[in-house]
Amino acid sequence: MEKCHNYFLIGLFLPSLLSTSLSISTTNITTDQSALLAVRAQFSIESRHILTKNWSIGFSVCDWIGVTCGSRHHRVTALNISNMDLGGLVPPQLGNLSFLVSLDMSINNFRGELPHELARLRRLRVLNLGVNNLNGDLPPWLGSFHQLQYLTLMNNSFTGLIPPSISNMSKLISLRLRYNSLRDISNEVFNISSLEIIILDRNSFAGSLPDYMCQHLQKLKLLSLSGNNLNGQIPSSFGQCSQLQKLSLSYNKFTGVVPKEIGKLTELEVLYLGQNSLEGKIFILSQDFGCPCSFKHSY
Ligand SMILES: *[C@@H]1O[C@H](CO)[C@@H](O)[C@H](O)[C@H]1NC(C)=O
Ligand SMILES: *[C@@H]1O[C@H](CO)[C@@H](O)[C@H](O)[C@H]1NC(C)=O
Ligand SMILES: *[C@@H]1O[C@H](CO)[C@@H](O)[C@H](O)[C@H]1NC(C)=O
Ligand SMILES: *[C@@H]1O[C@H](CO)[C@@H](O)[C@H](O)[C@H]1NC(C)=O
Ligand SMILES: *[C@@H]1O[C@H](CO)[C@@H](O)[C@H](O)[C@H]1NC(C)=O
Ligand SMILES: *[C@@H]1O[C@H](CO)[C@@H](O)[C@H](O)[C@H]1NC(C)=O
Ligand SMILES: *[C@@H]1O[C@H](CO)[C@@H](O)[C@H](O)[C@H]1NC(C)=O
Repeated sequence: MEKCHNYFLIGLFLPSLLSTSLSISTTNITTDQSALLAVRAQFSIESRHILTKNWSIGFSVCDWIGVTCGSRHHRVTALNISNMDLGGLVPPQLGNLSFLVSLDMSINNFRGELPHELARLRRLRVLNLGVNNLNGDLPPWLGSFHQLQYLTLMNNSFTGLIPPSISNMSKLISLRLRYNSLRDISNEVFNISSLEIIILDRNSFAGSLPDYMCQHLQKLKLLSLSGNNLNGQIPSSFGQCSQLQKLSLSYNKFTGVVPKEIGKLTELEVLYLGQNSLEGKIFILSQDFGCPCSFKHSY
């Protein structure tokens, strides 16, 4: 009886497995070409842009400007169309570039929301869409980029919060979201122990920083939270961010005393604390507290 039951299950799953692997194996460089043509269609209408001519179907996409193909599978592994005066929407077809490792569309005029089809880019290690006119909430499906190391969405109009699913990016090294309109930092960010750079300044982040915030951030070198609405005390766990070189907390609503643990940060070179409601002495400027005293600036 139990055996019958198992066979029945296998019979049920096999066709769906087959069709899944089939749909993967039937994509090829032609799939990549149509994805890139969808990008071209966004800006090419009556355009004299160099890419309109260069991205020609008469030539292999691997010879197109900004396109890199892998030697093994002959599929598009990198797309870099940074700073090329391009515009339009981010087309959903981009999600078909299933071998893509690096996507750089920064410093252009791309607008609108990010299509959820991008979630299919499971191999992405670099995603840079900074300095465009993108908007909408940061989507939870960003959590599907398990391999991502560099995420840059600075200078756009993104709203909402940093989705908790970001904790899925367990290899993330650099998170740059400055100059957006984001409201909440999910505490999950502070659990990504691979992070070396967190740049979140000039948003609308509110709330306070969790006490344990540096417990898992042993590799953090640069933390910038300036120009937000953060309040509460500066956590004393900052002492555990022992690699910190630059710490910027200015232009917020922090209160209380600067924790003496900041004085233990032997790598610290730049410290911005101005324009808050902090009180007391900034002890780190005093030799008496055994501070490293290697600060270049302290505001
Ligand atoms: C890609 O696959 C399609 C069928 O799915 C086929 O028609 C096309 O010729 C293939 N292209 C290349 C370059 O192999
Ligand atoms: C596109 O530009 C690349 C790099 O400059 C060049 O090698 C290629 O021949 C150009 N292709 C066309 C069709 O103009
Ligand atoms: C894309 O190209 C620009 C200009 O050549 C370069 O500065 C940038 O580092 C490249 N992006 C990536 C992800 O390699
Ligand atoms: C590519 O993406 C589009 C939109 O997401 C989809 O309609 C299309 O079927 C996909 N597949 C291929 C092989 O282009
Ligand atoms: C995060 O990872 C888990 C485990 O791999 C997965 O179940 C979940 O769907 C992922 N979240 C997102 C938003 O992709
Ligand atoms: C980002 O936006 C700010 C404020 O609008 C602007 O001053 C800055 O130059 C922008 N950065 C880039 C790289 O464009
Ligand atoms: C962060 O990780 C700790 C375990 O080290 C866990 O207890 C905590 O719930 C995590 N916090 C978040 C916000 O994921």
